[in-house]
Amino acid sequence: MKALVTNHSIATRLLNLGLGRSIGRGVGLSEIAVPTISDDEILVKVRAVALNPTDYKHIDVISPPGSIVGCDYAGEVVNIGKNARGDWKVGDRVAGAVHGGLYPDRGAFAEYLKVPGDLAWKPPVNMSDAEAATYGVSAVTGMLALNARLGIPWADEGKGAQGVSGNGAAVLIYAGSTSAGLFSIQLAKAAGYTVVTTASPHSFDLVKKYGADKVFDYHSSAAADDVVKEFPNITCAVDCFSEGNSTEFCANVLKNKGGKVVTLLDQGKSKTPGVQYELIMAYTVFGHAFQWLPPIGPKFEAKTSDRKALARFYESLPRLTEMVKPPPVSTINGGFDGILAGVDKLRKGQVSGSKLVVHL
Ligand SMILES: NC(=O)c1ccc[n+]([C@@H]2O[C@H](COP(=O)([O-])OP(=O)(O)OC[C@H]3O[C@@H](n4cnc5c(N)ncnc54)[C@H](OP(=O)(O)O)[C@@H]3O)[C@@H](O)[C@H]2O)c1
Repeated sequence: MKALVTNHSIATRLLNLGLGRSIGRGVGLSEIAVPTISDDEILVKVRAVALNPTDYKHIDVISPPGSIVGCDYAGEVVNIGKNARGDWKVGDRVAGAVHGGLYPDRGAFAEYLKVPGDLAWKPPVNMSDAEAATYGVSAVTGMLALNARLGIPWADEGKGAQGVSGNGAAVLIYAGSTSAGLFSIQLAKAAGYTVVTTASPHSFDLVKKYGADKVFDYHSSAAADDVVKEFPNITCAVDCFSEGNSTEFCANVLKNKGGKVVTLLDQGKSKTPGVQYELIMAYTVFGHAFQWLPPIGPKFEAKTSDRKALARFYESLPRLTEMVKPPPVSTINGGFDGILAGVDKLRKGQVSGSKLVVHL
């Protein structure tokens, strides 16, 4: 099959890490074997893929040479392991995310991919492949942050926050117009929370359309104080940007009562008394341990509870898509070349308020 496979040496990747930019392309179209499935996996013919910043971060720095890139996909089931969970039939539509960028036989930017049967979901008939492909890393990240780490009730459990506080507790979603932010807003809303978010003014209508109750411009130096004036009791936040002073902004909002900020990139330890930072890494939902840039890079332990959370989320998702909608989709033509062009747009920070999707 055809697949986008990485080729940067460790020396180039360390140089890219040091420079904070990418030298060379680091990825090319290769002809490789169709993955062999285990008894609990299904084989998927990939029809559409969605792109994430993590794709270029893997190509430029993390991926060992020979790894298939890409996480988010939608497609069709073409083979089923004899113990695969999920009640799959050949020909079923399927979507989800895989741990792309680290293995020679697992990744979404390929004609075929393999995935455990219980870690994929069945898109409804009225949803396009392009939309279905968007419920990968970004949606999973929102779920992991809110439901698994902050203990916010699951979207299929109803209006939990209303029950607890009587009038809806508030949560801060920093950078609500990111793909992770748009899913987080919707998952918090589904749980009955009042959603306070930040975005650029050009994204205000977008985040409100996805359910944000109040949006603040993160460019304003008074924004954190403005949030506190209006919402003095917030105790939990998801920082969907996690760069520059974004996490400190969240800590300032929480400092009255204390609480937890979930971050998507490493922001070190909180310096704000009573406020804790917790880094999440969406790949822990796949249930296996992994390491980046071994032997010196960070190690991530296998987390059975995160794997269970993903299986639970994807099992419930077909019933939730009216409430948890896909982000706006921007389709890029050109198949595998289109993927490379789209990943480069992400690398250059040229994507705002939409999810890039490519049909294969
Ligand atoms: N740890 C994990 O498991 C995990 C999972 C998913 C993502 N991530 C990381 O989280 C980040 C977001 O990913 P994504 O796919 O959701 O992003 P995305 O959709 O590509 O983000 C684009 C958005 O970033 C916002 N933005 C740009 N500069 C900003 C700034 N200075 N402050 C606040 N917002 C800014 C823009 O909002 P405006 O146009 O409104 O300004 C734009 O809409 C990436 O770094 C990604 O690698 C980590």
